Amino acid sequence: MTLSPPLLPPPSIQTHIEGKTCIRDTMGSTPAQVYKYSDGSTTLFLKVSPRSEKGKREYDVLKWLEDKLPVPRVIEFEETNDFSWLLMTAVQGEMMCNDIGITEPKELTFSILADAVKLLRSVDITSCPFDRTIATLKTEVDDYAKEGKITPDTVQTLFNKPPTEELVFSHGDCCLPNILMHQGILSGFIDLGDAGVADKWADLSQVVASIKRNGGDQRDIDLFFEYLNETPDWEKMQFFRDIEHAVHAVINQERAMN
Ligand SMILES: Nc1ncnc2c1ncn2[C@@H]1O[C@H](COP(=O)(O)OP(=O)(O)O)[C@@H](O)[C@H]1O
Ligand SMILES: [Mg+2]
Repeated sequence: MTLSPPLLPPPSIQTHIEGKTCIRDTMGSTPAQVYKYSDGSTTLFLKVSPRSEKGKREYDVLKWLEDKLPVPRVIEFEETNDFSWLLMTAVQGEMMCNDIGITEPKELTFSILADAVKLLRSVDITSCPFDRTIATLKTEVDDYAKEGKITPDTVQTLFNKPPTEELVFSHGDCCLPNILMHQGILSGFIDLGDAGVADKWADLSQVVASIKRNGGDQRDIDLFFEYLNETPDWEKMQFFRDIEHAVHAVINQERAMN
């Protein structure tokens, strides 16, 4: 099926996609609209987001990661009045989950997933300009409280006993659809708008939730941690999960009102 984008891309973007077939990708769950442009030789992805700091952040993260991790290469980025336009190369391969769940064979998928987490952690964070530490999360949640979107009690409960941080480079939305594999090896990461320096259990809490969402059970989670060679810290993962739930509740509420 060929669809035209409902929005007219600015000329700087248009010049790269002219003559290519366009298909809307409906996989993602954010307000971004993603389009796949292909011709016989090249495939590009265009991510159009309502203009916000986050669209620009994803661009900045991709540029910073260019020579550090397998991520899409930015072809063009532009901000217009209402939207940000991120045109990038395609990461080859399939997501680590598909319509019916975790990609088979599961053993291979979980071993690649563990390798993906190790690769993220291998990024040197000494000069990383992107911060997703607990202090930053707390500031964001405090701002929601000031705007009346979350109660002070909830903030108090969430950050009552923050764990000691073990900082690494974190994907920020470390779920199976955002990690791609090709012919039995990791091919790359996408959707990095929330990446940055964070506690290592932040990504792991998302991995666990994503395994469950895609039909995995406790044995699958155990297998993943075996490949990762880590003992799961359930308490720490719950800490990050609770913050994420609270933030998502606010975001969903905001979307429902717009
Ligand atoms: N550079 C890319 N290479 C391959 N697939 C991509 C790329 N960018 C986006 N996609 C596809 O589009 C979907 C949505 O993009 P994503 O950046 O994950 O947006 P969202 O924030 O909405 O999840 C992905 O799940 C994937 O199927
Ligand atoms: Mg995504």
